[in-house]
Amino acid sequence: MKIIAGNWKMNGSRENLVNMVAALQNIETENTVVLCVPYTMLGVTSDNIALGAQDVSTHDHGAYTGEVSAQMVADTGAKYTIVGHSERRQYHGETNDIVRQKAASALAAGLTPIICVGETMDEKQAGKTMEIIESGVRESIPNDVNGKIIVAYEPRWAIGAGLTPTDEEIAAAHKLIADTLSDIGLDGTPVLYGASVKGSNAAQIMSIPNVDGVLVGGASLKPDDFIPIITSVK
Ligand code: PGA
Repeated sequence: MKIIAGNWKMNGSRENLVNMVAALQNIETENTVVLCVPYTMLGVTSDNIALGAQDVSTHDHGAYTGEVSAQMVADTGAKYTIVGHSERRQYHGETNDIVRQKAASALAAGLTPIICVGETMDEKQAGKTMEIIESGVRESIPNDVNGKIIVAYEPRWAIGAGLTPTDEEIAAAHKLIADTLSDIGLDGTPVLYGASVKGSNAAQIMSIPNVDGVLVGGASLKPDDFIPIITSVK
C-alpha cells in the first residue's frame, strides 16, 4: 500500500475537484489518495480521497491578513497539509526553521504535515545533495512529533521540468532520509518521492526501496493522468 498525494498548486476550480472526486469514485485501489488543493476548494466532500492544504501559517490566529491557520484547514475536514514545498521556499523565503514551525502547527491541529525537503540545481552541482537532504529532515521536523508525519523528497531542479533523478540517486536519497528519521526516533515515517512523476514512471519509482509513495504536481490535475499513477501499484 502506497500514498499517492497530488499537489494542485494554484490550479483548478471547485468544479474540477468535484469532477476528480467523481472520476476516482470507482477506482479499485488500496493506496491512500490525498489531494492538496487551494484553500478555496477545501470542504468538497469525498469518501475515497482525503483533502489537504498546500501551506499553513506558523500562527494559530490573529492579525495576520491573508494567512490561513492549520486549525482553519482542519475545520474544513481536511486531514493533511504540505509544508515547505520548494515553491514556498523559493518564492516566500521559507527556511527549515519556518517549515518546522508550520509542521508543528499542523500537528497541533491534528493535520498530517507532508514535509518537503530537497536540493536545488546549484546545491546538486556543488555536491551538497546529501547534506541538504539530511539538514532538511533534521531541521524541518519538530522535536516532539505528537501525531503522524510524512516526508517528501523533492529534488527541486526536477520539479515541473520533466526531469527525474536516476533510480540510484532516488534510492540513495530515500535511504538517507529513512536512516535520519530512524536516528531521530521516527522509524516507519512514510517518505514520498516527488518531481515529474507520471503514469509511465510511477510504478518504477515506487518499486525503489524506502519509497512509500509519490507527491505529484502537474499529473494530478486531470483524472486521465492521475488515475494511471494511482493504479500503477497495489
Ligand atoms: P511536478 O511537481 O510533478 O509537476 O514535477 C511536483 C511537486 O511540485 O510537488
